[in-house]
Amino acid sequence: MYGRHGLIEEKEQQSLALHSPTSHSSDAFVASPHPPNAQAEMRSEMRSEIRAETRVGLKTNVQSSATHSIPTLRVLHTPSSQRRSTSLREGAALARMEAPEAEDQGVLHAEHAPQTERPLSIPRPAEPAKKPRKITVRTLREMKQRGEKLTMLTAYDATFARLLDEAGIEMLLVGDSLGMVVQGQENTLSVTLEEMIYHTRCVARGTKRAMVVGDLPFMSYQISPAQALESAGRLVKEGGAHAVKLEGGEEVVPQIAALVRAGIPVVGHLGLTPQSVHAMGGFVVQGRAPEQAQAIKRSAIALQEAGVCSIVLEGIPAALASEITASLSIPTIGIGAGVECDGQVLVIYDLLGMSPDFKPRFVKHYADLFTSISEAVQTYRDEVKQAEFPRSEHSFF
Ligand code: KIV
Repeated sequence: MYGRHGLIEEKEQQSLALHSPTSHSSDAFVASPHPPNAQAEMRSEMRSEIRAETRVGLKTNVQSSATHSIPTLRVLHTPSSQRRSTSLREGAALARMEAPEAEDQGVLHAEHAPQTERPLSIPRPAEPAKKPRKITVRTLREMKQRGEKLTMLTAYDATFARLLDEAGIEMLLVGDSLGMVVQGQENTLSVTLEEMIYHTRCVARGTKRAMVVGDLPFMSYQISPAQALESAGRLVKEGGAHAVKLEGGEEVVPQIAALVRAGIPVVGHLGLTPQSVHAMGGFVVQGRAPEQAQAIKRSAIALQEAGVCSIVLEGIPAALASEITASLSIPTIGIGAGVECDGQVLVIYDLLGMSPDFKPRFVKHYADLFTSISEAVQTYRDEVKQAEFPRSEHSFF
């Protein structure tokens, strides 16, 4: 995990008091027509996309989605009995794409399609969509060799997992940062293995392509290689993780070796390791002192020799991260560790700007969801109070 509340400069330690999730310091680091069978397949894919999008609560633009997926004029009718099993919200989304009169005729017209026959100049039929190639430890290695940057983001539930997966993020980290951003704790220390298994299972369900990495929480691996095996085994078997992450340097090499021997891919985590927040004296940048930098470099080599598939470098000087990255054949993934790492990771809530007053140096807000969500919720509140919602189109007769 890291410190969304975390990494700060030593001289700024006093701001650590602000590391609670409710109070953050800005200095804290803390196509073309398809063959009929493809049409049916794609229509069913589109239906499930709409269902999922409806569940996600995103505005589903059926028209544009349909335009991308099925630009044909007609798609075959699905018996209404099958559609009745959809939930109310799913049904509403589907209804937008299925005109009722089409249903009566046994023909379904996508909303966007003109109600005429197919034009004569038809572009060549597209291949049915291929299944995305899954990201594996081999992909990571190949990406490092090609010099292609890796993207990792945290996810804690199936809805976000699906969004990030479909956006092409290669690695989804079910970080123990969930203790802070989901549970509202001061740090990650109280997160349990059961909680990590639960969230990992949710994320795994929402993911098709990305590699799902489950964090081993504090004291679920430090005691012995046997304990690490037992905990990691549960994250894989019960949580559906493809890999596990653990914090620490040379001292956790026996644990890593045991996991790798058991066939469990391991991601290491060096530098600012939040499970050691008390030992570090806060979420403080690591590796500034030469002897500390040497220890981190030695640990990186030791972790690679023990068999980790990548290493998260958190809260260390950019030059040190660059040196480590150049010395390894496995990818490094940085957070507050400069641009030279092979990849980058952020906590998804930070990237989306869900805590407006949390803007440490290493975070970039790519959206202002705090404002968007809060405005949407206030509008809902006002409309309910003024009896403007629901309207007749939201009611049943
Ligand atoms: O728990 C977490 O989210 C993490 C990353 C941010 C590296 O460890």
